Amino acid sequence: MALLTLPELPYAKDALGFISEKTLSFHHDKHFKTYVDTANKLIEGTEFAGMPLMGILATAKGALFNNVSQAYNHDFYFKCLSPEKQDIPEKVDAALNSAFGSAEKFKEEFIKNAAGNFGSGWTWLVEDNDRKVRIFSTSNAGNPLSSGLKPLLVVDVWEHAYYLDYQNRRADYLKDFAEHINWGFVAENLV
Ligand SMILES: [Fe+2]
Repeated sequence: MALLTLPELPYAKDALGFISEKTLSFHHDKHFKTYVDTANKLIEGTEFAGMPLMGILATAKGALFNNVSQAYNHDFYFKCLSPEKQDIPEKVDAALNSAFGSAEKFKEEFIKNAAGNFGSGWTWLVEDNDRKVRIFSTSNAGNPLSSGLKPLLVVDVWEHAYYLDYQNRRADYLKDFAEHINWGFVAENLV
């Protein structure tokens, strides 16, 4: 039995506006699916079969870690997007105010960090052990769980996430991303 499954997108492929249906089709149906399928092939018949995803992420190395982590990261990323502009829930707003001064300053800082995340990777908002929120970038397939940090929000800065729509204009993709954040999902993660 396959351990990982490919979840459906939580919105229609043409619903986001700033990311085209074509990009979402490639991103979800090809890239994300390939990570899930490859992870399952690598897991099959090994000691990782039947292990919870978090257990695999904590112990796997090499190609298995990369594919399982990319599956986890993509699931998280697609949940972070909202077709409609959402208000920021009070507890998230309070955490952003405390760490960055305001939600707008957080967005500026997040965009700056993600724009400067060299090469392929992910830029996150995380909560640390002291319950402080901060920005954290990972390269390639990395994720914050490996560093003991709780992910709250992520943006995919691999070129496949935006290149068809934005080409080299990563900062423009990030500015539009910041206006399409599923803040309800961020609030669910900030418990
Ligand atoms: Fe991606």
